[in-house]
Amino acid sequence: MKKPKIVELRQIGHERLGYIAVAEENISIPFDIKRVYWTYHTPDDIKRGGHAHKTLEQVIYCVSGSACLKVENILGEKETFVLDRPNNGLYLPPLIWRDIEMRDRSVLLCIASELYNEDDYVRNYQDFVTLQQEYILINENG
Ligand code: TYD
Repeated sequence: MKKPKIVELRQIGHERLGYIAVAEENISIPFDIKRVYWTYHTPDDIKRGGHAHKTLEQVIYCVSGSACLKVENILGEKETFVLDRPNNGLYLPPLIWRDIEMRDRSVLLCIASELYNEDDYVRNYQDFVTLQQEYILINENG
């Protein structure tokens, strides 16, 4: 089973000049890139996310400010990731519930493996729990 993990990009440059971080398809980003979007001007007290995807893979970079991503996989295992460096992103495989708190007026740059498709979302947490139960049953039986 694929797991959430930090995808660190090499920083090109130095302290006096500043840096470039480069995300490249099937090199640093572990899938074909179909879509890039970014979220910004989200007030710090607002929670984003609150969903999982059935098939979509993503890498999310916090290119300005910081963000806290609480994730839960299909086995119910939970992890918290803080993104506070522009070159450190979080890879999310399919079937990961995520709750996102953006801090310091942060900007999240999201690199995605598919075009936008609302049918790929699981937006109701109880539906995600049902998927977890089905997954555990199928894997217990063989
Ligand atoms: P959503 O993915 O729920 O955002 P977040 O997890 O950051 O809170 O998307 C918010 C809204 O934007 C939702 O109505 C769908 C729409 N949307 C698109 O139309 N195209 C896209 O590529 C994305 C990511 C969202």
